[in-house]
Amino acid sequence: MIDENLQKTPLFSALDEEAALALQKSMVPQSIKRGNTLFQEGDSGDRLYVVTEGKIKLSHASGDGRESVLMVLGPGDMFGELSLFDPGPRTATAVAVTDSKVLGLGHTDLNPWLAGRPEVAQKLLQALAHRLRRTNEAMSDLVFADVPGRVAKALLELGEKFGSKTEAGIYVNHDLTQEELAQLVGASRETVNKALADFVSRGWLKLETRSVELLDLERLSKRAR
Ligand code: CMP
Repeated sequence: MIDENLQKTPLFSALDEEAALALQKSMVPQSIKRGNTLFQEGDSGDRLYVVTEGKIKLSHASGDGRESVLMVLGPGDMFGELSLFDPGPRTATAVAVTDSKVLGLGHTDLNPWLAGRPEVAQKLLQALAHRLRRTNEAMSDLVFADVPGRVAKALLELGEKFGSKTEAGIYVNHDLTQEELAQLVGASRETVNKALADFVSRGWLKLETRSVELLDLERLSKRAR
């Protein structure tokens, strides 16, 4: 059987069942304990990964050691493919935010599939284009949006990915520390905490350790715009 998380990836979505099973066979499972690093920015990369369990954060360090979190990935997300299309060092560091499992696929095992099946390559290009759109939007938010707006947007995005419906709204178990949340938003911990405290006082959300309950989605969405 094909792993349901693999089926969600652009890599597998263009394959029929027989081909998907064959490709799945070349993938190697790997477990990463919470806080451990799968690879570092600058390492040479020879495989891509699909998350099957847990959460992985992708981060980028500045010259002076500050860190920015590019994205938090969950089951069904693929990463590590940039060094396949553009051979070179890893462009980000991948660290497990919770105990996680991934399936790894060597670039050399993937290349024949890409050469023989243009529809797979097209899906991967589509995924890259989608990421570029998201990155452009994040860049423009950094320039034009204020910190509370960016906090609201980040929480809603985390909610879409990791949230579950409750009677009052959406419960988001993001598993990020306050520092990591600030790194995801691109602001200092103090400023992000101030924005969160303001949202709490307005009744828009409830804070818990490493999770949040979003209570007023409409107001948060308006603030995120
Ligand atoms: P690679 O460079 O091989 O290893 C790090 C991976 O992080 C990279 O491939 C992408 O899969 C992923 N990545 C890099 N930059 C971003 C970004 N801005 N948004 C989402 N994922 C990214």
